[in-house]
This record gives sequence, C-alpha cells and structure tokens, in this order.
Amino acid sequence: MTASFGVAVLLAVLPASFANIVPRQDSGSLASCPGYRASDVEVTASGLTASLSLAGEACNAYGTDLEELILTVEYQSDQRLHVKIQDPANQIYQVPASVFDRPPNGESDSSGHDLEFKYEEDPFSFSVVRRESGEVLFDTSAAPIVFEDQFLRLRTSLPENPSLYGLGEHSDSFMLNTTNYTRTLWNRDAYRIPKGTNLYGSHPVYYDHRGDNGTHAVFLLNSNGMDVKIDNADGQYLEYNTVGGILDLYFVSGPTPVEAAQQYSEIVGKTVMMPYWGFGFHQCRYGMRDVYEVAEVVANYSQAEIPLETMWTDIDYMYLRWVFTLDPERFPLELMRDMIDTLHRNDQHYIVMVDPAVAHAPGQNYLAFDQGIDSFMKESNGSLFKGVVWPGVTVFPDWFDPSTQVYWDDQFTTFFNAETGVDIDALWIDMCEPSNFADYGEDPEVEAASRGFPPKPPAIRLGSPRPIPGFSESFQPQCRAVINFNVNATTFFGENILILGSAITLGNDNIVNAAPLGANNYPIWSASIDMPANGTFTYQYLRAQPDGTFIYESTNRTITTGGCDSVGSTQDSITTSSPPQSKFKRYNRPAAHNTALHKRQDSGNAIGLPDRDLINPAYTINNDIGSLSNRTMDTDLIHSGGWAEYDTHNLYGAMMSEASRLAMLNRRPNLRPMVITRSTFAGTGRQVGHWLGDNGAEWDYYLTSITQLLDFTALYQMAYTGSDVCGFSGQTNDNTCARWASLGAFSPFYRNHREVNYPPHEFYRSPLVAESARAAIATRYRLLDYIYTALHVQSTSGTPLIQPMFFAYPSDPACNALQHQYFYGPGLLVAPVTEENSTTASFYLPDDVFYDFYSHEVVRGEGATVTVPDVPFTSIPLYYKGGSIVALRARSANTTTALRRENFQLVIAPGLDGKAAGALYLDDGESLEQEAVSEIEFAYDGEGRLSVSGTFGFEAGVVIEDVVVLGRGAGPASLVPVRVELTGPAEVEV
Ligand SMILES: *[C@@H]1O[C@H](CO)[C@@H](O)[C@H](O)[C@H]1NC(C)=O
Ligand SMILES: *[C@@H]1O[C@H](CO)[C@@H](O)[C@H](O)[C@H]1NC(C)=O
Repeated sequence: MTASFGVAVLLAVLPASFANIVPRQDSGSLASCPGYRASDVEVTASGLTASLSLAGEACNAYGTDLEELILTVEYQSDQRLHVKIQDPANQIYQVPASVFDRPPNGESDSSGHDLEFKYEEDPFSFSVVRRESGEVLFDTSAAPIVFEDQFLRLRTSLPENPSLYGLGEHSDSFMLNTTNYTRTLWNRDAYRIPKGTNLYGSHPVYYDHRGDNGTHAVFLLNSNGMDVKIDNADGQYLEYNTVGGILDLYFVSGPTPVEAAQQYSEIVGKTVMMPYWGFGFHQCRYGMRDVYEVAEVVANYSQAEIPLETMWTDIDYMYLRWVFTLDPERFPLELMRDMIDTLHRNDQHYIVMVDPAVAHAPGQNYLAFDQGIDSFMKESNGSLFKGVVWPGVTVFPDWFDPSTQVYWDDQFTTFFNAETGVDIDALWIDMCEPSNFADYGEDPEVEAASRGFPPKPPAIRLGSPRPIPGFSESFQPQCRAVINFNVNATTFFGENILILGSAITLGNDNIVNAAPLGANNYPIWSASIDMPANGTFTYQYLRAQPDGTFIYESTNRTITTGGCDSVGSTQDSITTSSPPQSKFKRYNRPAAHNTALHKRQDSGNAIGLPDRDLINPAYTINNDIGSLSNRTMDTDLIHSGGWAEYDTHNLYGAMMSEASRLAMLNRRPNLRPMVITRSTFAGTGRQVGHWLGDNGAEWDYYLTSITQLLDFTALYQMAYTGSDVCGFSGQTNDNTCARWASLGAFSPFYRNHREVNYPPHEFYRSPLVAESARAAIATRYRLLDYIYTALHVQSTSGTPLIQPMFFAYPSDPACNALQHQYFYGPGLLVAPVTEENSTTASFYLPDDVFYDFYSHEVVRGEGATVTVPDVPFTSIPLYYKGGSIVALRARSANTTTALRRENFQLVIAPGLDGKAAGALYLDDGESLEQEAVSEIEFAYDGEGRLSVSGTFGFEAGVVIEDVVVLGRGAGPASLVPVRVELTGPAEVEV
C-alpha cells in the first residue's frame, strides 16, 4: 500500500516530482566501442575458459572499459549452460551467494548437451545453438560487447517477430513488444502499477518460444539497475544495458515451455509450499478505524454466508504507524487478542502488515527503534540514514548486517507472541523496495512534516456502534452519546482542523489524541465522535499546520451530552485564522549530485569496484521516477560487509522476505511460514508469495491481473501470487467487481483489498458481487486439493501450477499471445469475460476436447475462437481439459478446516484418445516437515477402468464417493457411486 495520504481532502496526493537529471547517454562513443578479442582458450572437461582483451582503443562510453576479462563456460547439465564474463581480479560486484545460491555445476561432460556454445575469437562473440537442430538461440555478434566499470552492454540478435516473455516485474502485455521496447529493472514503489515502467520486483529472465523449434530461457544473474531493450531497428535484437555487475548468463534448453520453466526452477529454486488454509479466501482493507471495524467485517461475511478464511489488517493497527506497536486506543491488545481468539475458535486466521521502515523515535521507549540501532542503515559518517515512510521520519534495517536477523527475530518473538501478543498466522510485508517518500537530497524531517506524517488517527470510539454477532461482550455497543461536531473553517492546502477536549475521545486534553475533522463539506469541517453519556466537557478547535505546529483557539467551549445512544451536534465557527505566510511551501528538491568517494573495497571479493559514482552513473536507466536514489534509499549507502546499495538495491525485498520467513519460523518452528511480499528478486518464490501490488480498481486492471499472474507463476517460479481483487485504488462498479470476484478465485492467492479514501468493496456490500463470490468460492474450495496438488508438483518439479495457453499447446502459434485465458492446474481452463460490462466470453480453443465445468457438456475445440453468450456477472467459464482427472471435494465448506472433512468426487475428462490421468497430493496442510503424505495417481484407460496407485501414507479420513465420467451424456451413466478408500491402490469399474 502506498502514497495516498492526507487526513482531509485538502491534503490530497502531492504531485510526483522528478529530480532534475541530465541524461548522459552518448551513443556516439558507444558506436566506437572496440569489443574484445579472445585468447588462451582452454577446453575443460565440461566447458571452456578464455581470456578476453579489449580489441582496440577504449571507448569509455559510460565509464571505463576493462582491458582484460575472463570467460568461463560451463555445461552444468545437459539442459543448462552457464556463461560468465567477469574481471580477472574478481572485484566487480556479483550477486552475493548469501542472497542467491548458485545452482550446482553438474559438470556435464557427455557430448549430449542440448545446447552448444560457439564462439569467434576476433572480434570475440559467442552464440548458443540448439545442438540437434542447429537453431541459433543467442548470438552476440550483433554488436561488440561493452564491459565498463559502470556499464555493460550485450546484444543478441533474434529471429524476426519473436515470442518473448518475462523480464518483469511489469504490467505490460504477457508476450513482450518487440519494437522500440524497453524493460527497466529497478525496484520501486509503483502506485497503480503503470504500464511501460519499472515496478516492485526484478526478474531478469526471458523465455523465447519458437513453436516446434523449441522454447528456451535466458537468465542474467545481475541485480544492478538495467534497461533491456528489444527492437528491430537494425535487425531484431534484445540488448542488456546494466549500470554494473558482470555478465552472468544461464541458458536452459527446454525444449518445451514447461521444461524450460522446470529448468529455470533448478537455477532460482523451487517455489515454496504454502499452508492448505492459504488457499482460503482473504479479506483486507486499508483505513480501518479500529478493532471493532475489523471484527464487523468478519461478522458481515458470516452474515452474508460468504466463507472468510482469513482477515487482514493494514498499517491501521499501529500506534502512529510504528511497526511492532499497537494503537492502544483503537487496537488495544486485549481486544486484539479477543478478536484473534474468536477467529481461531472459528477456524479462521489473521494476518497483519509489517514494513521495513522503523520510526525514528529515539528516547521514546520504542523498542523496535532502540533495539535496532546496530542493525539500521548508516551514512558514511556513521549516523543513521533517514527517509520518510508512513510514520514520518524512519530508518531502515540493513539485512546484510548479521545483527539484523536477531533483531528481527526478537521483534517477532515479542510482538507476535502467541501467549501475550498479536498471534498472527501469517505475515504480510510491504514497502520493501524499499520505498521512501523522499526524493534524493530531500530533508526527511522537512518532507515528513510537509506531508503531515504521521497523520492523526481517526477519533476514538467508545465501543462498537452496532452489535457484532459472534464476538464477545467487549465487541457489543457500550453506553455512549454521539456528538456531530461541525465547524466552519477556511483553511489552506495542507492545513487541517482538529478538536481537543476533556473527553477521552477528544484526547483528554492531550494533543496526541486530539480528534481530526474531515472536510467533505468544506468549509464545514466535521466528525461524528463518541462521547461519554451524561457529562459536560470542554473543547476547542485547533489548526494543524503542515510543519507540525498547532494554532489553538482561545475560546473555551463546553458541551453537555445526553443519555446512552443520544445524538447531538454543534454548528461552530472557528475563532482563529491561518497565519499570513501560510502558502503551503514546496520545498526545493535539489537535483541529484555527485557525492564524495566511497570507502575502498577489498580486492577479490566481488563486492564492487571502488571509486564509482554511486549516485549518478553516466548511463541513465529509464527509472520512472528519475534518479536511482529517488523514493528509496540513497544508492551510495554501504551495507554491512561493504555491499553498495547501488548494486544490491534490487535485493532488498528478497532479503527482507528471507529474514521475515526465518523470523516466522523462529516463532513457530514446525509450521510452514506464509509470507506475502511486494518486492521480489529472481528466486524469492522459494521463500514467500507475492501480491501484485497497489493496482487500480478499473476494468483494465482486472485484465492486467491475469497477465501478471501468468508472469509470476509460470515464468518466475512464484506460485503463490494474486492481485488485489476488485482493485486497490480508484473507482470500480458492481459488474467489474463481480467479474473480478469470480476471476480472483482462480489465482493461487485470493484476497480482496482496498485502499483508504475510496468506497470499500467487501464482497458482501453488493448482492451481485456477493452472489459471484459465493459461487466462485464454492468452486474454488471444491478444487482446493487439486490446486494444492499442483502447488506441491511445482514445489518439487518446477511445473507451473498456472499455465499460459502456449505452455499447454506449444505447437499452436495461435496460443503464443493469448494472455487472458489460462490453465488453473493442469486440467482446468479458465476463460473469463474480457470485455467490460459484457456478458459474452470470447476465447480460443485449440484442437482438443474440453468439457464445460458446470454442464459437463462436450466442447470440441477446433483451433478457433469460440463465443459464449449469456455469461452472468456471477459466473466464470471453466472447462476441463480432455485427458485430465480432477479430484474435487464433493461439497464446499465454510472454512478450509471443514472442507478437509468432505469426501472426494473424481471427474474423468477423457482425452481424444479416450484416456485420462490426474494426481492428488495429501498431507496435514501445515507442517514444515510432513510425517506422512500421499501421492496418488489416477489413470483411466478409456474402457471403463480407473486405476488408483501411488503412495498412501497420509490418513485423510475421507473417501472418493463418486466418479463422474464426462462425455457419456448427462444420464446416470456419467455418475458412478463408488467407495474408494485413499489408503491403497485400487482398480475400479466406472
Ligand atoms: C519509441 O518509444 C518512445 C517512447 O515510448 C517514443 O517516444 C518514440 O517515438 C518511439 N519511437 C519509434 C520509432 O516508434
Ligand atoms: C506495446 O505495443 C503496443 C502495440 O504496438 C502498444 O500499444 C503498447 O503501448 C506497447 N507497450 C509498451 C509498454 O511499450
């Protein structure tokens, strides 16, 4: 969640600002770059090494050319080739092994490699060729290699009109544009995920799909800022332009898309297993005023009979947005524990957000600050580096520092203590790009004040305004009177009105808890505030200035409240005026500038070359917010161990993910941690899941949620992914939200989330949306073990649980660009409506047999687009893929715990050859180490015989109660009652 701030409408979103950077791109000198010449080529058992020397006069286009390089080529397996070009002194920064474990080199020495490395010595270039066919996959002869201290360029030529995918995180089309297209990788807080820009994570891998000629993937292990340019200006090419690091390339041969994904998983690690309950439905909203409101949402779901598995809370629960604290008035510990106990008793779960930025609050007994001093990022003079995040001025943990994991573990042990604290079941981490609202060079104190951070929390309430069924007595209405305070006050942009008084809800005369008023009817500022009944109280209005000061009224007002549930109001006029100089000043935002030299690095440890310009490299990547250091930490900061933020920026979210996973494990060593992060790097999926960030609520974002889902699950090995269903920010409507409620049910991670300042959109608020959600959740839950099995398969083999169309039909070129239909697990096609306000679904069916999920009707695909009219807003077209066997729970349930007590139904969808196969994985759903699991295989021979085989270690306590054989018509022939125990092999006539 990000940048929508302001207590009142007048303090609305500040315009983006751009540091004033003069690009120094200079293609003139790039054209004169001489490239390299290879010598001393030594062929090894499973690869080769060579020396590369600059082949002419240095061009020094964006730095200093390296005179000498070394090339290492390793055939790491028959499917994987590693090509590494680096400095002989091993000084240049490389992604640290502590963050990214290298895959083992299997030293494949057979001559059966799928890929072949070929090279030219002078000028040096190399190509990667598919051995069997001679197909050239990668060819750097397209342009000389440029290898400078702060700039690398490597270009490969490609065939015309290539089908390329990946290079995220982005919100562009799934199949990448191939002309005049730049993908920039530099992690940033990207509110509303604009197309064509760099977003939260970096995944420098692309898949190149060539139909029957095979699919391969290319991964550049490099965490520096980069532009990857794809163009056909001078022949089709793809070109890496990075501001540092080395050329560390992995090629995997496929040849099918699924195999390429599996082979990529061997490099970056397998996606992590999540708890079974993680596939339940999740609800969140930013802008919850207190614990009563959170409980009320839970109760409303229950009233609406929409299964809610997990309730979430955004930063609202914190005291002044300080991480690892509770707001004692609005989210007091006893009530939080009471609410969480209620959730747990009902087999529901609870999750809160944690940000990396810690409020800079020295001397205030703030443990998360006091205990972290050793672990926070420091400036070169040893002082704390400060930025601006939600609480105002903040500091940032340095995940490279060995003390930080201990610090982080300690915060989790205390704050999230199951006996005495907030007993969360899983974790949400945000703002970990890291996000900083200040641009480079801005003064954090000034910037925090100008934003009014932290804003005043909403007025305290004296209990819930309404009964909350299912919750304890503390959540039921208490005796209180309500006063609607209204005051006429003209203000300037950035100025706010507060009320302070002698009632607890007016702050007890303590300015810290003064209640803010809203300006929805400007110039009338108002708020409805709970007051103790039958009392007389003094109060006054204050003008809150953007610099953090207050102008107090001299008038002393009093008000007398009525009895329980009485309502009164005031019609006041303010007696103070705004200061004359009160133009809301925009502070000067200094342009990025060169800074002093940094401490020298040791040689030979791949930590980074000394004496670089870590703020303004000569090559300017296309960072959407200008300077590399804008809205994040300064890139000249040096982490513990000597790593420069300039090099490691893109790893911050990945490192926080790992530290947070470990802290969750430390707290509950036997349970699978479930952590959802915003910022990622290649390989982050082996530890955590990802939500797709702060999207919009408009129709286009519904479509984007699909392309991004395909990217993360199928290409980047982050299986547990999903968007903010119905959209985080912006306006939506019932039709869109109803469609999205259905669509989101076919993402591994399924959560409705909304930002403050827009109308809430919990599913129960609209009958249409509620109906869609009920139906979709029921289907999703029945399919839960099926998708959980697919997650298990991905976590062990790398076979993606979500597959784009071309993964399933690689030979059908019509599938290459399809981006709004996909396979959910191996056997179910999701074909959503893709036109706003339309009830017609149009999608492509390859030459294969499918079966309507709902009617069981046979649908013969003919390699053509089909149109389905009359798709209600409460439904989503789904089809079984011929050849699949899907194990569904016979009935849905209200929670995933109850679901596990339901029997199974097996649906057999015979393929064109009449046969079908499927799998079912069963375990206890939550243990890190499973004592006993079942891995069951189903096979149908097309002649009425179903065989059940595999391993049967887990006692599920349920049976398969019937089998549906599709294609036999709707009569009794299709539904065969059986009783198949899941305890051993079986043969069944169906
Ligand atoms: C390439 O894209 C840029 C930015 O999107 C645009 O300004 C420019 O006109 C495009 N050039 C061509 C040749 O299409
Ligand atoms: C990709 O190409 C399409 C069609 O040419 C264009 O509309 C779109 O803006 C391009 N996207 C980006 C991010 O360049």
